[in-house]
Amino acid sequence: MSRSSDVAGFYRRTTAERRAFLKEWADLSDEELRTLEFPPGVAPGTIERMIENVVGVMPVPVGIATHFLVNGRDYLVPMAIEEPSVVAAASNAAKVARAAGGFRAQSTPPVMIGQVQIVGVADPAAARLRILDRKEALLAAANAKDPVLVRFGGGAKDLEVRLVPSMRGPMVVVHLLVDARDAGGMNAVNTMCEALAPELARLAGGRAVLRIISNLAVHRLARAHATFRADLLATETATGPEVVEAILDAYALAAADPFRCATHNKGIMNGVSSVVLATGNDCRAIEAGAHTYAAWRASSEGGVVRPLTTYEKDSAGDLIGSIELPVPVGLIGGATAVHPTAKTLVKVLGVKSSPELGELLAAVGLAQNFAALRALATEGIQRGHMELHARNLAASAGARPEEVDQVVERMIRDGAIRFDRAKEIVQELRRTPG
Ligand code: MEV
Repeated sequence: MSRSSDVAGFYRRTTAERRAFLKEWADLSDEELRTLEFPPGVAPGTIERMIENVVGVMPVPVGIATHFLVNGRDYLVPMAIEEPSVVAAASNAAKVARAAGGFRAQSTPPVMIGQVQIVGVADPAAARLRILDRKEALLAAANAKDPVLVRFGGGAKDLEVRLVPSMRGPMVVVHLLVDARDAGGMNAVNTMCEALAPELARLAGGRAVLRIISNLAVHRLARAHATFRADLLATETATGPEVVEAILDAYALAAADPFRCATHNKGIMNGVSSVVLATGNDCRAIEAGAHTYAAWRASSEGGVVRPLTTYEKDSAGDLIGSIELPVPVGLIGGATAVHPTAKTLVKVLGVKSSPELGELLAAVGLAQNFAALRALATEGIQRGHMELHARNLAASAGARPEEVDQVVERMIRDGAIRFDRAKEIVQELRRTPG
């Protein structure tokens, strides 16, 4: 019988009914179905209310990065990520930075941009001025939509009008600048943009189309810098100053070549996004913002994309790393406010405001990037990676906890870190016990 995904009223079914449907659809065993179960610490209904058509959860490991000292404050940093080595790397980097006083970080006020697109405008240049003439009234109308945000010192603060040439002719694009305080800001900004759109369209003499937040949060930036002492970077085969030079070479390639830059910035986001996820914030928003920011900054210099970090050598020969990136994250509203695990992890992290969270994210991004460059510029990252990979392989090949170390050791010794070899070794071990 052919199956159809055209399932009527899936959203009306209970979680149990949806699971039963999936069991049949994918021929799942009871054991497979149990992997979807909700964690016991979460109150019934919490997860079902977060998204639609819920069938379960996909648990991601949470690890704690240690040694972080940012602006003189100690943090234990929860990171939610499936990739091995990231948490250890961040911790190691933070330890090196700590030896020279840790990370210094700063941030701009938490201002987000909302965009209202107006098309079909006959006189865009004059339309721009007609809108700017009404700026104060427009800001007041926007703020009337969120008196609570205004009471906390936030709200719509400014309005800009851009003329954007496009394949469909010139467009008037209004930017509403909203201080989101400790919220991510998406709901406040979108509500304000939708509220202003009819009046903006009337003033411009056109039609409003899009009314939505921009993830290129160029006004909500966090920056961090740290010193990584050369004498702490020596390896078995390279002196500290040699490692500093190799890291500067690695950074120079990212600054010169988009193919390397993509990976360089990806490594930064390994750290940033895993803290963003742990705190229940929107990883896609911060990723989109970071990568577009890297391209946007480069475009003004005639480039394609630039690294989010910078490395220099100071007069003492130590390595100075710095970072700047948009941090559209909040502590109130969104999943951060409802997801019980996120709430617990925010408490562990101990940040009290969204700028503080942003500054911490900048420090973690810098730490992650420094750790990656240090490993890549010296022994490479595969040794650490392969050891963890080997452990996973050993376990999935059926090795019992007390057998895992031996299976891993033999795979590494044989230079064959593969599932089939793991299975063979498990069998060999059982044939020759002891
Ligand atoms: C892997 O997830 C991240 C790295 O590739 C980053 C980098 O190359 O800088 C190690």
